[in-house]
Amino acid sequence: MEIKSVILAAGKGTRMKSDIPKVLHKIFEKPLLGYVLDSVKDITTENFVIVGHHAEEVKEYVEKNYNNAKTVLQTPQLGTGHAVSMVCPYLEDYSGQILILCGDTPLITSETLKKFVEYHNSNNSDLTVMSTIFENPANYGRIIREQDGSLKCIVEEKDATLEEKAVKEVNAGIYILNWAKVKPAFSQLTSNNAQGEYYLTDIISWGKKNNLNVHAFILENSDESYGINSRKDLAEASKIMNTRKLNALMDSGVTIIDPNSTWISEDTEIGSDTTIYPFTYIEGKNQIGKNCKIGPCAHLRGDVEIDDNCKIGNFVEVKKSKIGHNTNAGHLSYIGDSELGANINIGAGTITANYDPITKTKSKTILKDHVKIGSNTVLVAPVEIGEGTNVGAGSVITKNIGEWALALTRAPLRVIAGWVKRK
Ligand code: UD1
Ligand code: MG
Repeated sequence: MEIKSVILAAGKGTRMKSDIPKVLHKIFEKPLLGYVLDSVKDITTENFVIVGHHAEEVKEYVEKNYNNAKTVLQTPQLGTGHAVSMVCPYLEDYSGQILILCGDTPLITSETLKKFVEYHNSNNSDLTVMSTIFENPANYGRIIREQDGSLKCIVEEKDATLEEKAVKEVNAGIYILNWAKVKPAFSQLTSNNAQGEYYLTDIISWGKKNNLNVHAFILENSDESYGINSRKDLAEASKIMNTRKLNALMDSGVTIIDPNSTWISEDTEIGSDTTIYPFTYIEGKNQIGKNCKIGPCAHLRGDVEIDDNCKIGNFVEVKKSKIGHNTNAGHLSYIGDSELGANINIGAGTITANYDPITKTKSKTILKDHVKIGSNTVLVAPVEIGEGTNVGAGSVITKNIGEWALALTRAPLRVIAGWVKRK
């Protein structure tokens, strides 16, 4: 059956103490909302993002980065149930399924969402909520079950009795529903509760009352439902995401010398027998080949493709660049907007000057195979250096150089004998 998603992202996020909307706070330079939108990428045909607080900024991010997502404005924000009801006008004739998620839970994976959908379908469920077990369930909605274990309702912390508060099974905030069956609930929700809000969670008891088939899917790895409400939560979620990535890389044959000081984004692929040295930070989308050495203290900033057997050493920053096999940049360099061929050596302190601060434009540096760049060279882009050419140390290269040449810009060396003694 066709699935569309509704992602709730209109709330204020008061506890972040920020001028930036909560869902645009970042992990590895990617907004939280981006992780949620990516998690449904292979599952849904269309995604509705409910926006309210700082709506314009969230809308701009979504429209710029996700062409199958549409933002829907919710003003004022009267609760999670009210938020979902905003999509009703867009789904009048829709007879598929709706997957509901929150924009502030970036750790959910598409594998789990696929299992969740499978569970819903194989139980012929009309409405399935994802639950998880928390030792400390404070602040979450509690899953209340009947004597026979079947689902009864969800009770929010602020409305819960002492007995209900003791329940450790909580609402993870993810739902799937057969839209045609559950749609009427959204015109019948009420706000008779401690917070005076239209609770999405009330669709469970509504479903029971209307004889729908209602289920809870228990999420085994509760980390995936981790929601971000504060800066501390953001740091914790970043750590969980990083640990998950490092473990997957080590399982696939990558050596990480010190997992405690290494940060690698989810969207980075690394080939086997590559070693990542301590204090390396890799953000954005990157591809690193086999048998490379990266770091210590390297910084890859995204859109970086490194072929096999390369070395990116200490204090080397690389951004939006392609690097061919057997190429080395061992020390203290910046490589941005560049295309480097194979078997190149970049001397210490080489800089690609890619940015013109007057026109605010960036230009490309192209180095063909076998080029050798001497230490402390500035390559002022746009610039291209032909195959096999050597550039002398300390040069500032401002125009294209052909193949197999020596290029250098250097003031002649003066030696004045006895100068010091005479002084
Ligand atoms: C909600 C659930 C709770 C669950 C928890 C999981 C309800 C009533 N409660 O509580 O059972 O355990 O999530 O994290 O649903 N939002 C809007 N519009 C609104 C209100 C909220 O878009 O009018 C968005 C928020 O931006 C957020 C999400 O909905 O992304 C959840 O809202 P939040 O206020 O954080 O709900 P919780 O109290 O965490
Ligand atoms: Mg919340």
